[in-house]
Amino acid sequence: MFKTIDWGDGTVVMLDQTRLPQEVIYRTYRRPEEVAEAIRRMVIRGAPAIGVAAAMGIALGMKDSAGLSTPDLEHRMEELARLFASTRPTAVNLFWAIERMKRVFETHRGAKFREVAEAMVREALVLRDEDVEMNRRMGRHGEVLIPESARVLTHCNAGALATAGYGTALGVIRAAVEKGKKVRVLADETRPFLQGARLTAWELAQDGIPVTLITDSAAGHFMARGEVDLAIVGADRIAANGDVANKIGTYSVAVLAKENGIPFYVAAPLSTIDLSLPSGDRIPLEERDPEEVKHAGHSRVAPEEVAARHPAFDVTPARYVTAIITEAGISRPPYEASLRVLFPVNS
Ligand code: MRU
Repeated sequence: MFKTIDWGDGTVVMLDQTRLPQEVIYRTYRRPEEVAEAIRRMVIRGAPAIGVAAAMGIALGMKDSAGLSTPDLEHRMEELARLFASTRPTAVNLFWAIERMKRVFETHRGAKFREVAEAMVREALVLRDEDVEMNRRMGRHGEVLIPESARVLTHCNAGALATAGYGTALGVIRAAVEKGKKVRVLADETRPFLQGARLTAWELAQDGIPVTLITDSAAGHFMARGEVDLAIVGADRIAANGDVANKIGTYSVAVLAKENGIPFYVAAPLSTIDLSLPSGDRIPLEERDPEEVKHAGHSRVAPEEVAARHPAFDVTPARYVTAIITEAGISRPPYEASLRVLFPVNS
């Protein structure tokens, strides 16, 4: 299987998701600033994947800081944390990964430079490996929600490409398929970046999982005709009350699912749950360049002079969410109680 992100010998290697599905190109990055730019440009995207990329980017920056005095090294760590925190605001996994890297740095205060740098690289790799492991666990918990011969609608890409491997929402689908269930996926194309058309369709096809691409606006039509058994998506941030920030258009899918009596599931690791925010209205939502809306790929599809808006994420209120699947199990409403118990005390 392809690798979304990997650590080379002092380099970060990423599958360029801006080029899929036309070209499978791996890019090699040597400087943290290049990794940050790759996150901004969405060479790598998806909440858990950008967390891993930031961790590896910080490890790169640390490795290159030999010879700095202790205060300068501390300053560099702060600078790297700020650099990656400024890339994309919505996915909380990014900030969670930065915090983990900072913690390792702090626990090695006073150690030799080499030890610090090695510990940072080790932590980035642990983060990557844990991500895959958590996705597999999430899959095992979640697959029970997928009936035999289910027709499953998904939005955006919450697959191997959005994580270090296996995926969250697509991980649950993969786990159901591994159990021998015949699952068919309806993938929303997910305008304007087309994560559904370019990425979900590509990675499911690679695995031989039957996938049918639909326009975003066709989701309600297929639900109303009884052609969807359940919807499952990933998340960029989940507030303490179960409100879910995910790719723009997720809210519409959830409302349509409720209207049509279809379960709407969210699959995400605990690192996506932000208990510090009581509800979704406090989640920072990224607004991207309107030019992306005015283009399909490299072709302009709107008059140049027309205004456009491009919120990259929306918030689905918890009342539309049937269950949240994590590596620690399945949570159901009321989420204020069911999410909190997933975390160790005091977190
Ligand atoms: O803008 P993107 O492509 O980074 O948005 C990705 C999503 O919205 C995913 O659904 C989410 O990050 C979960 S990925 C496991």
